[in-house]
Amino acid sequence: MLFTHASTSSRSQLHVLFLKKGVKKSPEAKKFLHKDDLARVESFLNKNEFKGEKGETSLLHPTQKNEGKIILMGLGDAESNKTPYEEQFIGGSLAKLIKKHAQGKVYLLAPKELVEDLAYGISLGRYEFEKYQGKSEKQEKQPNLEKIVFLSEKDPLNEEKWQDIHSFDISAPYLRDMVNTPTNDMNTETMVKLAQEFGKKYKCKVTVFDEKKLRKLGCHALVGVGQGALYTAKMILIEYKFGTKEKEPNLALLGKGVVFDTGGYNIKPTGYMETMKEDMTGAATVLATLKALAESKVKGYFLGVLCCAENSISDKAQRPGDVVKAYNGKSIEITNTDAEGRLCLADGLAYVEKNYRPKKMLDIATLTGAVSVALGYNITGVMGNNANFNKEVMKAFQEAHERAWELPLNQDFIEACKGKFTDLVNSSDGVRAGTIMGAAFLNHFVEKTPWVHLDIGGTAWADKPSSLSSYGATAACLRTLYHLAKNA
Ligand code: BES
Ligand code: ZN
Ligand code: ZN
Repeated sequence: MLFTHASTSSRSQLHVLFLKKGVKKSPEAKKFLHKDDLARVESFLNKNEFKGEKGETSLLHPTQKNEGKIILMGLGDAESNKTPYEEQFIGGSLAKLIKKHAQGKVYLLAPKELVEDLAYGISLGRYEFEKYQGKSEKQEKQPNLEKIVFLSEKDPLNEEKWQDIHSFDISAPYLRDMVNTPTNDMNTETMVKLAQEFGKKYKCKVTVFDEKKLRKLGCHALVGVGQGALYTAKMILIEYKFGTKEKEPNLALLGKGVVFDTGGYNIKPTGYMETMKEDMTGAATVLATLKALAESKVKGYFLGVLCCAENSISDKAQRPGDVVKAYNGKSIEITNTDAEGRLCLADGLAYVEKNYRPKKMLDIATLTGAVSVALGYNITGVMGNNANFNKEVMKAFQEAHERAWELPLNQDFIEACKGKFTDLVNSSDGVRAGTIMGAAFLNHFVEKTPWVHLDIGGTAWADKPSSLSSYGATAACLRTLYHLAKNA
C-alpha cells in the first residue's frame, strides 16, 4: 500500500507540514520534527514570508547532511476550505511536489480531518499517462517513491478506509489508462480482452455477446450503432459475486462503451471529434469500480455491463431515418446517428432488467455535450425513475466528496421521445434540455427497477488541466460508484 500511517519518521526523508493561514506554530511539527528541523521551520515562519494561503508552498532545503527537505503547504483559512471536494486539490498540488522531491518515503503532518481528501487528491494528482512516452522521458522520471506516510500518534483512519484509498489508487489509473488509450489500441475487442483478463484475475464470470448473438437476442439498437465499424458491437457482462448467496445482483452497473464517436453520418465537426476516444469512459468506470470492489474484497453480488460499439461511417453504417427494434420490442427511428449512446444503453438496460432482475440499476455515460452547458466540467448530471434511489446516489456523491446535481426527469420529457411512426426517436426536435432527453429516452427501457442515469459528458475528461487531472481522463465518479456499491 502506497498510503499509510506511522507515529515516527526518519529525519532524512521529505516532510510536508500543513499550516492554516497565519499560523506560526504547529503542534504537529513540535511533536514529530527533530528539534533542529523545528527550529529551521520556526525561524522561517518568523520571517513572515509564508502566509499559509491556500495552495501556497515553500521548500526548505537541508542545512546539514542528515537533514531532509521540508515543504510547508498552506491550507488557507477555515472559510475557504469548507467543501471537502476542494480539499482534494491541495493533495493534487502536493502530488507534483512529491514527484519532484521525494525519494523513498514522504511524511505528511496534516490535520486529521484532511487525511482522506489529501490521500485521494495525491492519488489523482500523481497520475500521468505514460504508455506512449519515449523511453528517455520515462527514465528521466525514475519514480522511486515507496510510501506516503501520514504522521500522527493515533491512526487517523481505520483499516477499511486505508483499503478504500488503496483500491482507488490502483483502479483510477486503470480507468484513466483505458480511456486515454487511443481507439486504434482500444477497440471493442480490446474491451472484451480487458474484461476477460479481469474475470480471470478476480474470478468473475464474464459473458460476451458478439454481433451475431446480439442480433439473435434482438439487441438491434446496440448492433446498429456498431455496424459500420471493422470491430463490431459487443455486450460484456461481468458477474462479481463474493461472500454472498444472493441470486439477484444488489446493483447492476452499466457503462456506455463507445470506443469512438465520429457522430456517424450526422458527423461531428472538427473541434468536437478529436477527444471522442473518451466515449467509452462509462464502461471503463464500471470495470474500474468492479476492480476496486474486488481489491477490497467487498461482499455482494454486482453485475457490470459494458455496452460497446464504435460509431463509425462506412457503406455498412446506420443511416439517419433507419428504424431498429430494441431488445424490449420498441421500434426506434434513428433521427440522429450522433445520439448513439442511448441506443447502446437501451438494449443493455432492457436485457439486464429482464434476465438478471437486479435490485437497482445505474448507468454511467458520456451521453451528452449539453450536460457541460448546464453544469460545467466538474458536476455530473443525475437523473432517475425513483426518488429514493436518486437520493441514495446523491448521498454517495456527497460522501465520496465528488460533485453531482439532480436534473428533473418529468413525464413530459418522457412523452417527447415518441416518434411520428415509430414508438420512439433517438433525438427529438424542439425540446432542448438535451441531457434530460437522453435520460428520458433511456427511461423507456426500464420497467420497474429503481434506476439512475449519470451523465458524465462534462466530467469524464479534462481539456484544461487541474491539480487533480492533467489533460485527459479524470476518473470522475469512480469513488462514488465504489461507495454506492459498498453500501448497496
Ligand atoms: N458522445 C457524445 C456526447 C459528448 C460530447 C460527450 C462531448 C462528451 C463530450 C454523444 O454521443 C453525442 O454526440 N450526443 C449528442 C446528442 C444529440 C445528437 C441529441 C450531443 O450531446 O450533442
Ligand atoms: Zn454521439
Ligand atoms: Zn457518444
